Amino acid sequence: MFDDLDLETMRRRPGVKWADAKDGVLPAWIADMDFRVAPPVREVLARHIDIELGYPAWDDQPWKNPVIDAFAVRMKRRYDFAVDPAHVRVFTELIQALQVMLHVATKPGDAVAMHTPAYSPFLKTLTDMDRRLVPIPMIDGDGWRFDADRLADDVARHGCRALVLVNPHNPTGRVFTRAELAAIAEIAVKHDLLVISDEIHSDLTYDPNQHIPFASLGLEIASRTVTLTSASKAFNLAGLRCSVAHVGDARIRQELDAQPPLLFGEVSSLSVLATVAAWQDSDDWLAEARATLARNRTLVAESLPAGIRHHLPEATYLAWLDCRELELGMDPTTFFLDRAGVMLSSGPSFGPGGDGFTRLNFATSEPILKEILHRMREAVGQA
Ligand SMILES: Cc1ncc(COP(=O)(O)O)c(C=O)c1O
Repeated sequence: MFDDLDLETMRRRPGVKWADAKDGVLPAWIADMDFRVAPPVREVLARHIDIELGYPAWDDQPWKNPVIDAFAVRMKRRYDFAVDPAHVRVFTELIQALQVMLHVATKPGDAVAMHTPAYSPFLKTLTDMDRRLVPIPMIDGDGWRFDADRLADDVARHGCRALVLVNPHNPTGRVFTRAELAAIAEIAVKHDLLVISDEIHSDLTYDPNQHIPFASLGLEIASRTVTLTSASKAFNLAGLRCSVAHVGDARIRQELDAQPPLLFGEVSSLSVLATVAAWQDSDDWLAEARATLARNRTLVAESLPAGIRHHLPEATYLAWLDCRELELGMDPTTFFLDRAGVMLSSGPSFGPGGDGFTRLNFATSEPILKEILHRMREAVGQA
């Protein structure tokens, strides 16, 4: 399931990760895994396609959507996070949920704090929606850190309305500690911030790091937090499009409930069934995926070209690579595409702090990953 994927099979894949890689190029860019989906997900999809694809049983009664219960049970079991099912809303992509939250909770021109470098569709979201980015720079020292005092000053100075937390963080792979989250929580309370916490990578946290849902810090924090997640990263279901939002803030729930119910679209029944099968029945698959990713993470650390600095990601299958010492230009992605035939994600597209960096997706088979790393070493004259 994880290591038997040969190159020929991969090249026939219709998804954007492989389809956009030109002849001979190995893709290690967009955050899709090269693994086949978990058997329970495959089975539930096949079964339902066989039986019927009519209107779902929860049509017109969105609170009966089974993904809500599956989410609540999983959060309690894995993270001791008590989710109130009545506070959960279902969306398509997580990005859609983020845009909806910003739409109902903030206005054009409002300032929104976010760690940078940042997942580029989130930067684009702020630009598209005319919200002002207030960067929380990730500082490179002994691992990636941020300065909570500076954050407090910046939030006050810019009059931030909201903070978008991405934890675990993409692209650095940081899993924020309880102390870091508590510092953010203190600032949020003091400055009346809404916190939108994207926890989509939480199931891909490596031991001994522990994912702590932001809303689980306490009742006051829960009441100003929207937690967003989806099975799309950990279970590789991005094309299906189903995400959930736990809306702790009563004012936002009221705003959402005041909208025409279909304004924000509805998820397909297949995406719901797949997500439920992933969250309820696929933890064996997840354990195997995590073990494969942990081995790949070590392989990356051991085999990168000398001169590329990186901190072992604490979660995610993404390695954030500092190539500045090798002087490969503002965007080393171009160098590795042209000289190595390896397609990475552009560092500068992650905004402030991205120049001279590139992001490597290591969720592939060991032979393909070894070839990617070999090509990168060869391109910088180290093979
Ligand atoms: C931090 C983060 N949030 C959101 C997403 C996108 O999720 P979705 O496809 O459900 O919108 C990604 C995808 O890589 C991500 O890394």
